Amino acid sequence: MDLSPAHNQSLEDLDRENVFHPFTSPKDHLATGPRIMVEGRGSRLTDNHGRSYLDALAGLWCVNVGYGRQEIAEAIYEQAKRLPYYHGFASMSTEPGILTADTVKRMAPGSMARVLFGCSGSDANDTQVKLVWYYNNLKGRPKKKKILARDRAYHGVTVAAGSLTGLPTVHNAFDLPLPQVVRLRCPHHYREAEQGESEEAFTDRLVAELEETIAREGAETIAAFIAEPIMGAGGVVVPPTGYFEKVQRVLKANDILFIVDEVICGFGRLGTPFGSHHFGIEPDMVSVAKGITSGYQPLSAVLISEEVWETIRDHSEHLGLFGHGYTYTAHPIACAAANANLAIMEREGLTANAAKVGAYFQEKLRARLADDPAVGEIRGVGLIAAVELVAERETRTSFIATQGVGKAVAAEALSRGVILRPMVNDALALSPPLVVTREEVDEIVDVIAASIDAKRGLMAPSAAA
Ligand SMILES: Cc1ncc(COP(=O)(O)O)c(C=O)c1O
Repeated sequence: MDLSPAHNQSLEDLDRENVFHPFTSPKDHLATGPRIMVEGRGSRLTDNHGRSYLDALAGLWCVNVGYGRQEIAEAIYEQAKRLPYYHGFASMSTEPGILTADTVKRMAPGSMARVLFGCSGSDANDTQVKLVWYYNNLKGRPKKKKILARDRAYHGVTVAAGSLTGLPTVHNAFDLPLPQVVRLRCPHHYREAEQGESEEAFTDRLVAELEETIAREGAETIAAFIAEPIMGAGGVVVPPTGYFEKVQRVLKANDILFIVDEVICGFGRLGTPFGSHHFGIEPDMVSVAKGITSGYQPLSAVLISEEVWETIRDHSEHLGLFGHGYTYTAHPIACAAANANLAIMEREGLTANAAKVGAYFQEKLRARLADDPAVGEIRGVGLIAAVELVAERETRTSFIATQGVGKAVAAEALSRGVILRPMVNDALALSPPLVVTREEVDEIVDVIAASIDAKRGLMAPSAAA
């Protein structure tokens, strides 16, 4: 078999013929894809035609330290030369993983006792589901298995994590969600509050819904509640005032574990080490991925509290060994990348930078776009934000999906050299690297304003009915 590259075909052709792309319309891809990135420095990318882009999404909300970090590349290279792989089964270990676990545990919110590594945010949340089931079985509570998750949450795509996700595209035709998932309302004041309802009153209604759900299902059947501090892929939803504080109280009173999904908010994005620090969340379990390596290597982790760890340690003997884990758990190259990445975060004070430049970013978005007739809401904290486009501000009426307004504005921004992402309800999501500068923030905001202007023809009220 000749495995040499097919030189008579372009990379684009080879891609269309061979690659199955995630979260992509297969038909659209064959017509217009792919766009092939070849290089990155700081917040900027270059494609294979030499075009340059300002990446206002940091890849997929993950390249926190920016592209082109020699130090991480060298750490990966050195580790690959010394020991490219060894596993963690049967008490085996490697130095990079030990050091990553120690650092992440010290950075994490609450009081975490142990760190179990994986390769993706999805597998971390799948592991969380299995861990809470295991934990309750060990505690002699075989009925306590349901998980509370919110509409528009994004927790990944594997069978359990995809079930926790509250977005129809992840469920439709995939036979998801699993029946153990119980859904709660999305905490988005702009979209879900009743007319004239204050944030506090909305919070109280969400908390009442939580209490009613627990009463209806029975606390003895509910194992855990999972939440992102700020929802990412669901459209950058910032919860209303007092939400997590009150939710936590209800969970504690009903002996329900709080799993916080820090896959996007962890490692500085909100200007605090984790999203939990911003909102005062004291989780029982934490999922991390993305920013742990800034995407330089695939790595995720699940952190568990003292109580969960002690239960597993002390009550699992009759089951024999702990029967979960992956070939690549604590992969030494991925952990070497994490260690170099976290050292950069610390040395360059990137969390503080996210707070400082993030404040400028939030202010600038509002100053420039808040009065635009097509902008319904601007929301976010630190270096994560969304600009939600609407057909009519007064009534908060969205465009109809087939108008494709968000998609068209994002495509226009891309043609002007800025990458952002259209989400639910034509919200344009932004999550630049934590090294983004004020000048780059200005450029992002200018391009968004110009792109909205350029697509105003699509937004005529008559098109919205
Ligand atoms: C909050 C959150 N959790 C989990 C995931 C899933 O991570 P992965 O795509 O690495 O499986 C994502 C991915 O975007 C995420 O944003």
